[in-house]
Amino acid sequence: MGAPRIVRVDPVRPEKDRLAVAVDVLRGGGIVAFPTETVYGLGAPVTRVDALIKIFRVKGRPPDNPLIVHIATWDQLHEVAVVDSDTIERLGEVWPGPVTVVLRRRRVPDVVTAGRDTVAVRMPGHPAALALIELLGEPIAAPSANKAGKPSPTAAQHVVEDLDGDVDLVVDGGETFFGVESTIVDLTGETPTLLRPGPLTVEELERVFGPVKVPDFARGLSEPDAALAPGMKYRHYAPEKPLVIVASDMAAMASALAERGLTPCMYWVGPEEPPHLDKTRVIVLGGDPYEVARNLYNGLRMLDKEDCDIGLFPAIEEKGIGLAIMNRVRKASRGSSVPI
Ligand code: TXA
Ligand code: MG
Repeated sequence: MGAPRIVRVDPVRPEKDRLAVAVDVLRGGGIVAFPTETVYGLGAPVTRVDALIKIFRVKGRPPDNPLIVHIATWDQLHEVAVVDSDTIERLGEVWPGPVTVVLRRRRVPDVVTAGRDTVAVRMPGHPAALALIELLGEPIAAPSANKAGKPSPTAAQHVVEDLDGDVDLVVDGGETFFGVESTIVDLTGETPTLLRPGPLTVEELERVFGPVKVPDFARGLSEPDAALAPGMKYRHYAPEKPLVIVASDMAAMASALAERGLTPCMYWVGPEEPPHLDKTRVIVLGGDPYEVARNLYNGLRMLDKEDCDIGLFPAIEEKGIGLAIMNRVRKASRGSSVPI
C-alpha cells in the first residue's frame, strides 16, 4: 500500500527512459495508470491475466464489464480482432484517435472481453500511450483509471485520489486533451451502432463509416440491452451530491433554492461572465463545448469538494461533442431531484 510511484513524462515528447520504468512494472505483473488523449487508463498487458484481475478488483468493476484493448500497430489489431481490408482503410482515417471500435474477437483472454465473442479496440493518439504500448511490445488492456461509478480521471491527481496505493505506478502526462472517454462504435452488425458518444462526433463518424445508428441509450435517455452495451447499465460519473439538469433559467432556479436555505453549485457554460448570486457557488466549465468537455469531470469532482448542497447543470445542445457531454451528465444526475 502507500502512495503510488509517479513518473512524469512530457505529453508531447514522452521520455523513453521514464516510460521504460512503467514497462518494467508491467512486465513484473504490476498495474499502471497512464494518460490517453481522452482520460487516464489503468492498464496491464493484454495477456497478463493475474494483473487484469487485479484491475477489476481495485476498480470495484463487475467482471461482466469488458475492457478496451489499446494497440499501437496494425499488426496488433490483427492479433486481437477479425477485420476486413475495407474496415482497416476506414480505421486508418480515425486512428490513432479518440474512438474505440467493437469487432469480432480473435486471441484475447476471456477476462478482457468478459467472455464475449467481440472485443473493443482502440489505437490512442496520446504520444505517451502509444510509446508505452510500443515499448512494451504488446497491447495494453485498460479501463478508465477511476473507481467504478466515479467520474473518469483527467489528471494524475484524480487517479491518486481514487486508487491511491492500489495502483503500482502512475505515468503523469498532465491533463488529458479531451476530458471525456472515447467514442465507442460497434462495427459487428449490419449498420455501425454508437454505444457511447465521445470526442469523435457522430457527424465525423458518418463521414468515414456511413450512416450510424444512435440508440436512445447512447444519449443517456434509456437503459441499453446489456448484450449490446454491457458497461452502460451501471450508474456512472456520479458525484455524491445530487446533480440536476436545468433546461430553464438557471439563475432563477439557484435563487429559489437559496431561499429555501440550500446552497446551490451552479455550473457555468458559455463565454460570458457568470452572474453574482447570493448563496450560490459557481463552477465555471468554459466558453465552448470542447473546453466544457475538458473541464467536465474535474467539475463533477468539485461538486463534492465545494461547500454546497446540490449541483445545477445547464442543458446544452446535443450536437458535436455536446452529445457526449449530455450523455455523461444524464448518467451522473440519475436518481437526483430538486428538493423544491
Ligand atoms: O477513452 C476511453 O475509452 C478510456 C481510455 C482509457 O481508453 N477507457 C474507458 O474504458 O473509458 P472503460 O472501461 O471505462 O469503458 C469502456 C466501455 C465499457 O462501458 C465497456 O462495457 C465497453 O467499453 N466495452 C468493452 N468491450 C466491449 C465489447 N466487446 N462490446 C461492447 N462494449 C464493450
Ligand atoms: Mg470507465
